[in-house]
Amino acid sequence: MDEPGTVEETAFAKINLALHVRHRRPDGYHALETLFAFAADGDRLTAAPADGLELTVTGPFAAALAGDDPADNLVLRAAVALRDAFGVTAGAALRLDKRLPVASGIGGGSADAAAALRALAALWTLPADDPRLGEIAGRLGADVPACLASRPVRGTARGDVLAPVDEAGLAGMPLLLANPRAPLSTAAVFAGWDGHDRGALAEGDPLAAALAGRNDLEPPARALVPAIDAVLARLGEAAGVRLARMSGSGATCFALFGTTAECAAAARSIADRQPGWWLLETRLR
Ligand code: C5P
Repeated sequence: MDEPGTVEETAFAKINLALHVRHRRPDGYHALETLFAFAADGDRLTAAPADGLELTVTGPFAAALAGDDPADNLVLRAAVALRDAFGVTAGAALRLDKRLPVASGIGGGSADAAAALRALAALWTLPADDPRLGEIAGRLGADVPACLASRPVRGTARGDVLAPVDEAGLAGMPLLLANPRAPLSTAAVFAGWDGHDRGALAEGDPLAAALAGRNDLEPPARALVPAIDAVLARLGEAAGVRLARMSGSGATCFALFGTTAECAAAARSIADRQPGWWLLETRLR
């Protein structure tokens, strides 16, 4: 049992329904147009009252972070930034249950950092709508502001300038995530982009815009991890699939389905044929 006052948050997995890379910026980042959506599942973060700030990482993917300095973890960096911004003197014992593969294009550290901001704002009774939370999120990483919202949003600039979209057609859609268990460096995938602007992401209904769109990071990611080809092929041939695409810089790919039965059938069939892949059967939130 967690002690009284413990706050629990899900670090909802981030999906890029489409990701258009338009140009390289002078600051080394890339100008994007992207549609963010979020899975109902993700890593789990708990924050308990404590005197100091500490982080424990558990769960099936904790080993991937074992060699890292905890102070570099975005969860602790978020906690320190929040404490400094609001002059908080209390601490927190943070526990991160790492359930999703790391370096895999579905938010990972960004979603964990955003969950830490939400959890600690609750633990330290800070106003959840204070603009300083968004400012801290933007400093922690380009995807962290979208992960702070964890609702479907359209992102431009580095992916950190957000505009609301109509969620109605997306909420609850059955979603299958598949990863060939090959980590990918986001910076390496962006560096492999060919510099060719393939055009804007459509405005309006997000599902229609996503269906008409693309992920411009698929070619450089596939060049680094050829197994992505097979993941996209398996998802794309599943019965009832509405959209199959890579998320972010990969290697995780996603498929959206019309019904949960179709999503479950695809998950069973892929698990049989590709027992080594990581799969998560969930839905859009
Ligand atoms: O902001 P974040 O630390 O998550 O970004 C990781 C890396 O991804 C950056 O260092 C950069 O190489 C690349 N990136 C980019 N353009 C973006 C977002 C990320 O080039 N819009």
